[in-house]
Amino acid sequence: MSAPPNAATGALQVFPDKDTLVQALAEHLLALANSTLAEGGAERFFRIALSGGGTPQALYTLMASPDYASRFPWARTQFFMVDDRFVPHSHADSNGGMLQRLLFDKVPVPPDNIFLMPDSGPPADAARAYETTLRRATGLTELATTDTATTPPLLDVCLMGIGTDGHTASLFPGLSVLDNTTDWVAHCTPTTAPHTRLTLTYPAIAASRHVIFLVAGASKQAVLGRILAQDTSLPSTHVTALRDLTWYLDQAVAPPTA
Ligand code: 6PG
Repeated sequence: MSAPPNAATGALQVFPDKDTLVQALAEHLLALANSTLAEGGAERFFRIALSGGGTPQALYTLMASPDYASRFPWARTQFFMVDDRFVPHSHADSNGGMLQRLLFDKVPVPPDNIFLMPDSGPPADAARAYETTLRRATGLTELATTDTATTPPLLDVCLMGIGTDGHTASLFPGLSVLDNTTDWVAHCTPTTAPHTRLTLTYPAIAASRHVIFLVAGASKQAVLGRILAQDTSLPSTHVTALRDLTWYLDQAVAPPTA
């Protein structure tokens, strides 16, 4: 059996600048949503998990704009989180709070379609609770490991970023969560970034039909080059997908050969 699509072999889509990059990605997400819903039954939701941080905020702002918002199938899309800082959603560092402000408050997405990560209580309990949320929302009891019809994907799209240290989601170098192959959601406390986090684990990310990395800016060119060269010391290198993995890049971060 061939190896699943992975970060080092993912297709590169390179755009001149951040604006054209997020415009192209927004249209790609719309096309994926429409094709997924066209293929699935009337009960099918398009399931997407979104990352936080700074890079995707321009994408979320664009998705909330009237022209785009009028075309997107909000009522048939379920929105999940890739990870979050374990702070109240009202905190300035909350990914869920940022998405609520930039996107969910501005578009006609039913509140029942939004699944933010818990932001209180013991972190371990919050991680368990979000895994239960994922199981109930998707009706899945196990994670797909191959792109076949037997087990549907947990997610249709998992939208990821990377840090200059090679982390993705809240999978930071050196953390034990990198070795968690049983849970769908885990908590962790990085030493190189603020806050305890909740994060999807590798198996949960790998159960995504399409994994998309959105990366922009010259500051990440070096770490991207290491990931594409299969530097296994970097957590992002170990990300796989069921069907395909794509890098959406601006020219500033793209490898010189791209
Ligand atoms: C987070 C994100 C994280 C992010 C990278 C890149 O909670 O911070 O989920 O994985 O994607 O840190 O962040 P920037 O886009 O801000 O560089």
